[in-house]
This record gives sequence, C-alpha cells and structure tokens, in this order.
Amino acid sequence: MVDRANKPSAIPVSPTLPSPHVFCTADNSRVVASLPSGESVEVLLHGATVVSWKCAETENLFVSEKAVLDGSKPVRGGIPLVFPVFGPPPSSGPLASLPQHGFARSSRWEFLDRSSSESSTLTSAATDNSVKLDFGLSSSNMSPEALRAWPHKFSLIYSVTLSKNSLETMMLVRNESDVSFEFQMLMHTYLRVKDIGQVAISGLNGSSYIDKVKSASKETQSQSELAITSETDRVYTGLTPHKPIVVLEAGNPRFEVTRDNLEDLVVWNPWIEKAAGMSDFAPRDAYKQMICIEAGAVNGWQKLEPGDTFEGVSSIKSVL
Ligand code: BG6
Repeated sequence: MVDRANKPSAIPVSPTLPSPHVFCTADNSRVVASLPSGESVEVLLHGATVVSWKCAETENLFVSEKAVLDGSKPVRGGIPLVFPVFGPPPSSGPLASLPQHGFARSSRWEFLDRSSSESSTLTSAATDNSVKLDFGLSSSNMSPEALRAWPHKFSLIYSVTLSKNSLETMMLVRNESDVSFEFQMLMHTYLRVKDIGQVAISGLNGSSYIDKVKSASKETQSQSELAITSETDRVYTGLTPHKPIVVLEAGNPRFEVTRDNLEDLVVWNPWIEKAAGMSDFAPRDAYKQMICIEAGAVNGWQKLEPGDTFEGVSSIKSVL
C-alpha cells in the first residue's frame, strides 16, 4: 500500500451548538424564547406585552395576580407599551378620545420574526447568545375606534432582545402618511423587587421632574438616592443620554436601566391606597414587590415628518 505524502487531516466534526429556542403557544397568544444559558422571556401578542423575563429561574418582572391576560384590558404588570399618548389624553383637540396611555397596550400585535446571534465556540456560546423577537402594529391592523381616535398611517416595530442577564426593548415608529404627526411613547416596566422598603434608585440626582403626586409641580431631585416611602409618580425629564439608572436593593445594585434616545423616565409606585383602588391589582400589598421604571419620550411631543422614523431603546441588566 502506498502511503500518501500529503495525507489530508481528518475534518473536525463541529459540535452542535446549543441555540436559542423560540415558540408560539398553541393558543397563539404568546411567544416564548429561551437561551441555552437559562434566560427566558414571554411576550403576549396582546399589547406585545412582555409578561415574564427570567434569569436563572429568578423572575425580574412583576405581574399582578389579578392581571387580565385575555386581551380585554391592558396587563397590570410586565412591560405594557405606551403609545401614542402618555397618561390621560388632552381634554380637547384631536387626541381627546384616546384611552389613557394610548392604544398600543390594548391592541393585538403581529409576531414578525426572530433572529439570533451565536458565538462560534462552544464555550462562549453559553455566555453570549441572544435572541431578538420583532413584533409589529400598524394602522392597517388597528381597531376602527383606535383609528378614529388617531387617524394616521403609521407602523410600529417593537423588538425584544434577550441576552445573558439583560433585556433590551426597542420601539421604532414610522410615519407612513403624507402629513406629520406627534406622539409620546414609553415602556411601562414593572420591575419585581423583594421589599420596596429596601429599594433605592440612583442616577437621578440633580434631575428635573414633574411630581404627579404634588399636582404636577416642577421639582429638582436633591438626594443621590431616591427611597420609595409613599405613593410615587414622578416624570423625570431631559435626562443625560445613556446615563444608567440603578435600582438598589438593600444597598446592592439589582437592576441597571440604560436608555438610547429616550430622555424621560417615570418612577411609579401606587402605594397602599392607589393599589387598593385598582381592580386588577393583587394581592393588596403587592405594591411592596414592584417598582415601575419607565423609559420613554413623554415630556412634550415627538414630531415625525412623513416617511421619517423614531427609534428609542430601553435596556435592563439584571444583577443577581
Ligand atoms: C404611570 C403614570 O406611568 O402609570 C401613573 O405615571 C399611572 O400616573 C400609572 O397611574 C398606571 O397607569 P394605568 O393606566 O396602567 O393604571
């Protein structure tokens, strides 16, 4: 037998890399994604509401035990989307018949696509995989009453990206009509905490805010950390771009929220009386287990010219 001088070396058999898993539930009500590293996210098509985000079995989001998930009202918890108006609509004018916080959180969205990124080696695959889920809502699939309240041609693409220890939500608004329109938007994120008495929020020192609990008075934060000791409903405005807002529990960072092109941030906790007045809020003392940190563009209006797009991102890191 003749031995070949330049024998080809064996072709390495590449190991099957673990990859993100995505599926739509049998009733077509939600999209569930998980990563080989253990993180998972669940998004209801109703409102494109993220209703669960887990890292290593720890749930990061608060959802009320009485939250209505059947599409008949916005979800009390998770990440409802606020668009095209924040809070109650103006009392008169073209937006007056919009519901509180707009229609995006009450509309059924379409699941558009998924994409994932995987690193090339088995070792790093476990650490930097991510999966992106895209959802869409446009004037062509809106209810007639929502279209009457906001008669514009538009499209929204909402992308939810799950990575190791982080969740990024990105909203893209496109004006598809031939006249400009104005809107507000926000990601109404209910973060789960163990005990509100141990929570403090840093990164807001020196920032201006509108205090909705004090008849919308204009204030400036003077403490380096905000503790939550009573009903809190503040709209921080014009924040420094990209500056992280940190939710501390017992003095340790628990969540870090960064924003891109979203200069406003709402901090909300209903506390005892407001919680008791909400029919979908349970148990009664669950206000102790949540803090809403809501990145958005809500101070004034975002004007979008025909054909233009607006993009805003909120990214949350879970520190365990
Ligand atoms: C917050 C507002 O974003 O949402 C609060 O600042 C409001 O004023 C809260 O009470 C909850 O709103 P809703 O419509 O979900 O009860």
